[in-house]
Amino acid sequence: MAVEKSLVLIKPDAMVRNLAGTLITELGFLGLDIIGLKIVKVEEELAVKHYDELKDKPFFPSLLKYITGQYHGKNSVIAICFCGEDAISKIRTALGATNPDNAEFTSIRGKYGRVRDIDGDNVIENLVHASSSASDGERETALWFEKAELIVA
Ligand code: TYD
Repeated sequence: MAVEKSLVLIKPDAMVRNLAGTLITELGFLGLDIIGLKIVKVEEELAVKHYDELKDKPFFPSLLKYITGQYHGKNSVIAICFCGEDAISKIRTALGATNPDNAEFTSIRGKYGRVRDIDGDNVIENLVHASSSASDGERETALWFEKAELIVA
């Protein structure tokens, strides 16, 4: 067990559906510490840096449109840094599979996510991003937060 940081984003689809409170409550049951939280207007430059590892994927343009709010008419997200023992696997297990259609019914994405056609694109509305490894957690936290915005014990 290791203390890890996970960068969580409450994505534009969750924001327009007023699910932010519900999702933060669900994640709160994991017992991790919130050491940073803010609302962010997501510009293309930040989105490109955040999803750098996926830049060669065919769905990259659609992913940028999604996280910058172009599908939902809302370019704000809530960024949260969770910290605690095994934060990465605890949050990813709670979220469930990337595609809500494949996620366990009891997982966050299984309960609230959906896949739908928007403007001819097949959009995976999975509501929440969470870092996929401890090193991603560090990189993404540094990308979204200034050091002074984080509460460090
Ligand atoms: P990924 O990092 O693989 O998934 P996760 O969010 O579970 O860590 O993908 C990032 C996002 O890209 C994902 O949340 C939704 C989108 N995506 C697609 O639109 N199509 C796809 O085929 C995949 C794999 C992801």
